[in-house]
Amino acid sequence: MSGAPEAGGWAATHRRSLTDAEEFWLEAAEAVAWDRAPTVALDSSAAPLYRWFPDGRLNTCFNALDRHVSCGRGEQDAVIHQSAYGPSSRLSYRELTERTARFAGVLRAQGVQVGDRVLIYMPMIPEAVVAMLACARLGAVHSVVFGGFGAQELAGRIDDAAPTVIVFASCGIEPRGVVAYKPLMDEALTLAKHRPRAKVVFQRPELPIELDEGELDWAQAMSTARPAACVAVAATDPLYILYTSGTTGRPKGVVRDNGGHAVAMTWSLRNIYDTGPGDVFWAASDIGWVVGHSYVVYAPLLAGATTILYEGKPVGTPDAGAFWRIVERHRVRTLFTAPTAMRAIRRADPDGSFARSADLSSLRSLFLAGERLDPDTYAWAADLLGVPVVDHWWQTETGWAICANPRGLDDLPIKAGSPSVPMPGYDVRVLDEAGRDVPVGSEGAIAIRLPLPPGALTSLWGDDDWYISSYLDTHPGFYTTGDGGFVDEDGYVYVMGRTDDVINVAGHRLSTGAIEAVVAAHPAVAECAVIGVADELKGQLPRALVVFKAGVDIERELLTRQIVAAVRQAIGPVAAFREVSVVDALPKTRSGKVLRRTMREIADGKSPTVPPTIEDPSVLDALRPLLRPTS
Ligand code: COA
Ligand code: AMP
Repeated sequence: MSGAPEAGGWAATHRRSLTDAEEFWLEAAEAVAWDRAPTVALDSSAAPLYRWFPDGRLNTCFNALDRHVSCGRGEQDAVIHQSAYGPSSRLSYRELTERTARFAGVLRAQGVQVGDRVLIYMPMIPEAVVAMLACARLGAVHSVVFGGFGAQELAGRIDDAAPTVIVFASCGIEPRGVVAYKPLMDEALTLAKHRPRAKVVFQRPELPIELDEGELDWAQAMSTARPAACVAVAATDPLYILYTSGTTGRPKGVVRDNGGHAVAMTWSLRNIYDTGPGDVFWAASDIGWVVGHSYVVYAPLLAGATTILYEGKPVGTPDAGAFWRIVERHRVRTLFTAPTAMRAIRRADPDGSFARSADLSSLRSLFLAGERLDPDTYAWAADLLGVPVVDHWWQTETGWAICANPRGLDDLPIKAGSPSVPMPGYDVRVLDEAGRDVPVGSEGAIAIRLPLPPGALTSLWGDDDWYISSYLDTHPGFYTTGDGGFVDEDGYVYVMGRTDDVINVAGHRLSTGAIEAVVAAHPAVAECAVIGVADELKGQLPRALVVFKAGVDIERELLTRQIVAAVRQAIGPVAAFREVSVVDALPKTRSGKVLRRTMREIADGKSPTVPPTIEDPSVLDALRPLLRPTS
């Protein structure tokens, strides 16, 4: 049921996935329960838009829940909710199936049909998982929005996805206190043009709220709902949209299908994470991110494992031992988090005394992703835990690892600084600007030869042209990852950082363009640039360089406060935006183009060649100290 481990090790498996993709993926698809099993793996008829398992039909929720109940796993824990702020709870597969079927009934009663969108704005609580799976049950398309986003980001997603129903919780909980969601939702709906047919509100005891007209109480609706059965959909039908930051302010709605996703999730849990039915898997991420979609919710449940839903931080809730106590208490086999979380734990507990005093004997491996794993943090964690520490590289777009060290498949050496080797279906190349393969060891743009494997995005929501122009046009025949790097003589890939305006703050992906648009809207600002500056803890932090309008007389401190507040309101606290520097000018070319790339490369610690077209090199020199690391 969970997919058997591949025979033959990584090299043979990877080769076969590229030379005999049809056979490879049809075989992998046998681990999924289909209403109609696919007879064909890949449909290339609309290339460069590819579809996987075009004649297959299935229901993702059935595979994640009902199937396990009928196979005798009904009483096994499906989800353990571990909260740093209140009581914890468990839901067995049977309980989760019942609740999900009932909530699907709630959505259906509000008119949700196959293909309709449902927007979910919820913290890390079991009801968020129920809401996601209930959509999958009906063949509806969920769009989960991360709780740390502000009203403007939320509004953009509401307008783009045009949801029939919005499901939100009354609050999230952060170390600074309760975060009320309704004011954010109300403001977002004031900014948005689209109107949902209904809203369902889950009332948390920490902040019960008064409901407005058109808002249904979750508990009340559940008490009268009729459970809904699974609706089989085409493998190629969308399962969810997940918005991610691109290089402009407009977020990209990554579309994931049902069939390819179920196959990739199932394959990856067994072969990459070495986890199967009955094992406890913990991805310490948020359901608002792709890691949360793939490895908090879908992969562990599709595989019949137990997943941990953690509401809390790695440090400060209450201390740097939180992760290790959870591993001990729940006998976690595989832990997955972001390098920034390890850096935070290390900073608070450099000797690892919390980990040393916990019983971590259940832990087989630690997987890290979301940003580059610096060799120092790798060495610290590997030494402390005594298990393989596996860096792996992927993106919201791909949905699962492009490169990893597949622990369930092989025992490949780990090289610090590299996320190891390409996963099945990923034909990874490093290209120069003309699209030619660069020599081994030379840096270039990392691209993936089409087609992308099952589980990767099929398009951007409602906009195939945008998908093609964003990812496929730069190097025809390839998907451009937006990351730069190189491959060594053993085929290990090294990812050195983004080549565009996407930055990574504490494992959260943000667009400097989106932040820039908010800064530029301040009446005192003539022009500005937002750059990601290296930060020891969070990897990168955004910093705005601002030029005043002529004649403007405003105190710098006041300006900083106003701009910081505006970004927090519009983009959200998660941007961790605090640095505003007023400068006399921005470096530009003679034709007036701001040299963002040059500034970005300086901030990345590189020594870029300054374009000969620069108007005044002294302007750039004056800014260099501001582009240095923040700590
Ligand atoms: N809802 C509301 N606010 C949120 C939020 C949410 N879901 N998530 C984060 N925020 C807020 C935080 O409260 C904080 O607000 P503040 O400015 O008032 O303090 C701000 O956004 C930044 O949060 P965060 O990024 O969590 O930073 P932090 O300084 O509180 O903690 C780390 C630092 C490193 C411990 C933390 O960033 C972390 O655990 N990162 C791992 C991220 C991760 O798992 N990424 C997913 C990829 S695997
Ligand atoms: P996201 O879409 O939020 O998952 O962010 C994807 C981006 O994070 C990638 O394009 C990389 O820039 C970065 N990233 C993720 N994992 C890694 C990794 N293991 N090593 C280096 N960069 C990574």
